[in-house]
Amino acid sequence: MISKKVEEAINLQIKNEEHSSRIYMAMASWCETNGYRGAADFLYKQSDEERMHMLKFIKFLNDRGGYSVLASLEVPASQYKSLREIFDHVLSHEEFITASINQLYEVSLNEKDYTTGNFLQWYINEQIEEESTVHGILDQMKLLGDDKAGLFHIDKELGAMAAAKVIDVLA
Ligand code: FEO
Repeated sequence: MISKKVEEAINLQIKNEEHSSRIYMAMASWCETNGYRGAADFLYKQSDEERMHMLKFIKFLNDRGGYSVLASLEVPASQYKSLREIFDHVLSHEEFITASINQLYEVSLNEKDYTTGNFLQWYINEQIEEESTVHGILDQMKLLGDDKAGLFHIDKELGAMAAAKVIDVLA
């Protein structure tokens, strides 16, 4: 049986993952209507991936005798100044998610819930990968510049990354 503290902390993370999914969906919608089809594909996929992260937590918590509940969410921003602004925001958001996963990990260790700690290893590794991907995108943006040609290339690159992205299925 899972402790109340761990249950609450996982439910908070379920909220954070669902919120991430909505933030990236809003960004994808902006990209799609502003000529950035590749970035839109990338962010729609990222949104799906966040939903998968949420679902994985929901099933884990319910399987362990806890109860997953959904929370109300803030409406994500719908206006952005540029593609660069979007990816700066993605990076700071992922840093926030990394911190919240670490916080959850700490709760599980304090509660001596090593099963949850073990389960969280997957998310800890996933965060390393996600932050590194966004750093790579921002580096390319800096390198290629934000003129029309640079943005065209970045958008193409993001489209190729989206096409190559395989979303892990639930274990
Ligand atoms: Fe589920 Fe992008 O962290």
